[in-house]
Amino acid sequence: MITTEEKLRKQAYEAVEKYRDTVQKDPYRQGYHMMPPVGLLNDPNGWIQWRGTYHMFFQWMPFHTGHGAKFWGHYSSENLVDWKLEPIALTPSDWFDKNGCYSGSAIDHDDKLKVFYTGNVRNGHGERESYQCLAESENGIEFKKQGVKLELPEGYSAHFRDPKVWEHEGKWYMVVGAQTLENQGAVAFLESDDLESWTHKGELAGPVEGLGYMWECPDAFSLNGKDVLIFSPQGVEAQGIDFNNQYQTGYVVGKLDYEKGKLEHGVFNELDRGFEFYAPQSMLDEKGRRLLVGWMGVPDQNEEHHPTIQHHWIHNLTLPRELKLVEGELYQLPVKEMEQLREEKLFEEVVGADLSHKLPRTSELVMDVDGSLNQFELQLFDYLKLSYSKETGYFTMERSSLANGNTESRSCRLIEGLQQMQVFIDHSSVEIFVNDGKEVFTSRMFADPDECMVKVVHKGKERLKLTAWKLRN
Ligand code: FRU
Repeated sequence: MITTEEKLRKQAYEAVEKYRDTVQKDPYRQGYHMMPPVGLLNDPNGWIQWRGTYHMFFQWMPFHTGHGAKFWGHYSSENLVDWKLEPIALTPSDWFDKNGCYSGSAIDHDDKLKVFYTGNVRNGHGERESYQCLAESENGIEFKKQGVKLELPEGYSAHFRDPKVWEHEGKWYMVVGAQTLENQGAVAFLESDDLESWTHKGELAGPVEGLGYMWECPDAFSLNGKDVLIFSPQGVEAQGIDFNNQYQTGYVVGKLDYEKGKLEHGVFNELDRGFEFYAPQSMLDEKGRRLLVGWMGVPDQNEEHHPTIQHHWIHNLTLPRELKLVEGELYQLPVKEMEQLREEKLFEEVVGADLSHKLPRTSELVMDVDGSLNQFELQLFDYLKLSYSKETGYFTMERSSLANGNTESRSCRLIEGLQQMQVFIDHSSVEIFVNDGKEVFTSRMFADPDECMVKVVHKGKERLKLTAWKLRN
C-alpha cells in the first residue's frame, strides 16, 4: 500500500514535470537565484554547511502559487553559486505536520544532519495546533522524522513556530517565534541537554510595545562580541520611511544572558530597505562567516499580482550575504563567491557626466564615488529608479506598484553620503548594497524583458567609477 508520504511526494514530482516547460519559458525566471521548480517558495530553512556542502531547504507549495501545507524543498551547493535541486526533504504527511512542515533550522550532531521544524496542524475544529518536530538524515538528502519534541508551552497562542537551534557551552538552545495570550509578539527561549527534552526558560525578547502581534522566524547568534537577534514581526505600523512593507524584518543587538534567558537589547532596526524581504536565516559556515539568506517576498503583500504566477511559480531567495557588525549595526555583503558568476567585463569607466548603457538581464554593476555626491539618479530598465540627494540625505528606490501601478518608494538616510554601491540584477530582481553593505534594498523587478537600458543622471562634478559585468545564468 502506498503511504500518504509517498502519494504526496509523487504528486509534487508530477507537478514539477507537468509545469517544467511553462516555468522554463518565463522570461522572469531567475538566472542565478534559488527559486521553486514549480509553485510557491517562501522562507529559507535548515541553512547549514554540512560535511563541506552547503544545504538550503525552503518552504515549498508545489501544487499552486498560494500558501498551504508546505513541504521542505532542498538545494545543495559546493560553492554558494551553483545550486542543485535535491529530492524533497520533508513532506506534510503525519498527524503532527499534516497542514505544513513549517519553517525551522538545521544542526550537525552525532554525525547526522538534524532539522527542527514546526508541525502545523488544523484540528477537527479548524483550530491551529503547533508542534516542534525533529527529523534526521545520515546523508544530508533523505530524512527520517523523529516526531514531536516540544508541545506548546504555557502562555502562548498556537502561533508558535520556526525553531532555530544552536549549541552554546555544551548545551542546546532554541528560539521560537511566538504570540503571547495578550496577542503580542515575542521570542520563546528553550534549553536542552540532549535535544530530546526541552525546558522553557521564558522570553528571550519581547513583547515590546508597538512591535506587533506575532514575531516570526527568530534567529539568535553572536557576532563580533555582541549578541544579535533577527526576527520578523507582524503588525508594526509604518513610521515615515520605516516599516513600509506589509510585515517587517529587523534586528536588535545586545547581550544574551543564558542563565537568565534574556537578551538585553537596543532598538529594532530594519534589516533591508527594499520592497521584498522577509524571514531570513543565518548560519556559521566552515570559514567562520555568518551567512544570511532571506526570502525575496513578504506574506500577504501583492502576491496575487506577481506576473510569474501565469507561469506557475512565485518568489525566490536572496543571494547569500555575509553579515558584519560595525558600530552596532548589521552590514550585509554579497559573499565573495559571487565573483565566480562574472563572465565578461562589460565596461569600466570613470565618468563626470550622465551616461547610458545597455546591461544584460543578469549583470552586476559596481559604483565607486571619488569624494561625495550631491545628486545622483540611476534608472534601471525603465522600471526602477534609485536616487540620492545630499541635501536631504535620502537614498530612495521607486517603482510602480504591482497592485495598482502607482509609484511606491522605499528610502533610508545616508548620513555619511553615497560612497559606494553594488547592484545585482537578475531577470526579475535587484539587490542593491549601499556603502559596503550598510544598507541593502532587495526587490523584485518586473521590467519589460526586452528592456536593457540603464541610465545614470549625475548632476555634479564628482567622478564616479562604474564597472559592470555580465553574470552567468
Ligand atoms: C514566515 C512563515 C513562518 C512559517 C512559514 C509557513 O513566512 O509564516 O512563520 O513557519 O512561513 O510557510
